[in-house]
Amino acid sequence: MNLSIYAKNFLETFILFLPAMVANGTPVVVGRLIKNSHPIDFGFRFFDENPLLGPGKTWEGFFGGLVVGAIFGLLAHFLLPQYSLILTSFYVPLGALLGDIFGSFLKRRLGLRRGEPLPLLDQLDFYLGVLIVLILCNKVPDIVSLILMAITIYFLHRATNFAAYKLGLKSVPW
Ligand code: CTP
Ligand code: MG
Repeated sequence: MNLSIYAKNFLETFILFLPAMVANGTPVVVGRLIKNSHPIDFGFRFFDENPLLGPGKTWEGFFGGLVVGAIFGLLAHFLLPQYSLILTSFYVPLGALLGDIFGSFLKRRLGLRRGEPLPLLDQLDFYLGVLIVLILCNKVPDIVSLILMAITIYFLHRATNFAAYKLGLKSVPW
């Protein structure tokens, strides 16, 4: 078994997912900077009378995450030129943000209010969004890297959200 191959594959996968992690974290900062941001669901409620997505998903957060994520996507393209990630630099952040939105949609259907925790989905909704994008773009990493990446994202997400809570950027630590 050649460990350095696994390490190289994982490093490349990490670079591939970096724009997604940035895209997922940017809205937290945007949400603090812009006071009167606009909810993506415009306040609409679903058939179950619960909000469609809730006030935690805003247009400002979405587009902020898309722009900053795409900048990091271009960085990934230049770090891994052999994979030509120009299109992916835009689609990976988009997948991350849509995955996060779909996560909130599911949470509202379960009757959870904005910010209430749903372990695993809270940390991995954007990962699943990115995975779908990578499948569609035919750029799926190897299975070992994908599993390591899910574990990394889970713990990074928990650590960064705890830090954001301590810094006063978030009102809950998850
Ligand atoms: N955010 C945003 N727009 C988005 C995503 C996130 O403005 N598209 C901001 C919101 O201020 C949100 C914060 O980033 O509160 C943290 O995002 P997240 O943890 O995903 O949202 P929650 O507040 O936990 O809401 P939910 O229960 O729907 O996950
Ligand atoms: Mg959340």
